[in-house]
Formats: sequence, structure tokens, C-alpha cells
Amino acid sequence: MTRREEWAEALDEARSGGATVGLVPTMGALHGGHLSLVRRAAATTATVAVSVYVNPLQFGRDEDLARYPRDLERDVAVATAAGAQLVFAPEAGEMWPEAPATTVHVRGITEPFEGEARPGHFDGVATIVTKLLSLSGRCLAFFGEKDFQQLAVVRRLVRDLSLPVEVVGCPTVRDADGLALSSRNAYLAPAERAAAPRVYAALLAGRRAVEGRGARRPGEVEAAMAAVLADDPRFALDYAAVVRPDDLSVPTVVAGEVRLLVAARLGGTRLVDNLPARSPHPEGP
Ligand code: PAF
Repeated sequence: MTRREEWAEALDEARSGGATVGLVPTMGALHGGHLSLVRRAAATTATVAVSVYVNPLQFGRDEDLARYPRDLERDVAVATAAGAQLVFAPEAGEMWPEAPATTVHVRGITEPFEGEARPGHFDGVATIVTKLLSLSGRCLAFFGEKDFQQLAVVRRLVRDLSLPVEVVGCPTVRDADGLALSSRNAYLAPAERAAAPRVYAALLAGRRAVEGRGARRPGEVEAAMAAVLADDPRFALDYAAVVRPDDLSVPTVVAGEVRLLVAARLGGTRLVDNLPARSPHPEGP
């Protein structure tokens, strides 16, 4: 369906009698990662609703909005096969009958990492996610851990705005060689695709530093990850970091549960990935 009212009514009806709705917001070009969210939603909720909207607000001026892969017919078919009952695919003019004068800005957590590399990106994400959640009403909303900072931003805005939504984070799905599934992998030339799992290898090196060597200095973990990418001059590292998983702050000492983050450019494609790690050192008081 394409109309906002139709969508809101269909979800209200799905909720009548107390049934739960699972929302999977996407920009289409659905791959195994998205479908794992749909399947998880289908296993948890009575009605699974998938939105497909390539959100111009979250693309920078020099980014790939125009060439972002689009195939709605295929998206509807694979989402339905994975368990979706409703698909919402509005045109831009339906989503915003007038140009939005409102921006949802989540302070702090949006600033480092992707926020620094892609100015304005998280304002676009936060604004469209707030709009989608507001149109959809009470639901469980499923987001991939692949975009770990995005997930943290969405959790924060849902908490701050007391939206009637439970955010469910779902594990990253990877190809057999470790490359995290992403719609942007389609941009990789064959030789780049063969090299791309190096990002995962970098994260594994970071995990070995945290879990195997018990590294205490964040800089040591970051250097271990950066060194793996530096071995192939085709990669340009944006950042390699070890952070606290809840607020993405960099700890002074690596302890307890941490998240490893890497972003690097390979040719014209940005690869963004992350991995959890558990330090043998307990978190201090
Ligand atoms: O992760 C995505 O596909 C997008 O950022 C989202 C959450 C659908 C918002 O446009």
C-alpha cells in the first residue's frame, strides 16, 4: 500500500483485539539481513508490517541517493515470503505532502563516527524513523545491529519521546566469508567484493585483542583493527573504535562488554560493520 491513512488504518485493525504488530522499517533492496528481521518479527508478533522508503533526508549531497538500488516488486515478493502481511511503500510526496519544517535531532550519540563522516545523516534517520513510528502506532520495531549507531540513536529517541514502541535489535547477517550483508554491497566490483571481508577480519583482530590479549587501552585495540586494513592499500579507514555499547562512548579502560566499530572506504563504497566483544577485565564501579 502507498497511502499513509491506509497504512495507519490497517495497523489499527491489526491491533484490534490486542494483537501485536511488528514493524520492519527499510529502504528496500531487501537482502538476507532484512529478511532475518522480517522472520524475527513473524516469530514474535501477529502482524508483520514492512516499510520500504528510500529516505532522501538521510543522504548527503554527494551520496548515492540517485543510484540507490530499487526493486519494489521483488521487495514485496521476498518480504511476503519471509512472513510480512503488509508492505508500505509511499512516494516522497505522500510521505511529505509539504517539505518538512521539523527535524528530529538526537544530541550526543549522533555526533561521532557515522555522524562525523556523514553530517546530517542521523537527523534524516531520526526524522523519518519518528515519522514512521508515529504513523505506525504501538508496535515492536525491528532494526539490525549492522548499523549499530543507528540502533542506539533509535533506542534513544524512542526513550526520550516516550513512543509506544519496543525496539528490538537483531544480529548482523553475514556472507560465508564474513562480509556483513548490506544493500550497498551491490556497488562493489568483483575484485572489491573479494577484498571486502577484510573489514570483518579487522573486527576479529580487535576481538582477539580484547578477549585474547586482554588489551586495556582502547588505542591498542584500535591499532589492531587498523593494521589489518592498512595491509591492503585499497582501503581508506574512516574509523576503528572500541566503545561502550549503550552510549557509544570510548572508555578510558577496556572492560566488560564493548562494541568494536569499523568504517572504511573501498573504491566508491563505504563499508560499515561492528562486533561485540567481552573483556576479561570486569567493569569498575
Ligand atoms: O536502516 C535503514 O534502512 C534506514 O536507515 C531506515 C531505518 C529504514 C530509515 O530510513
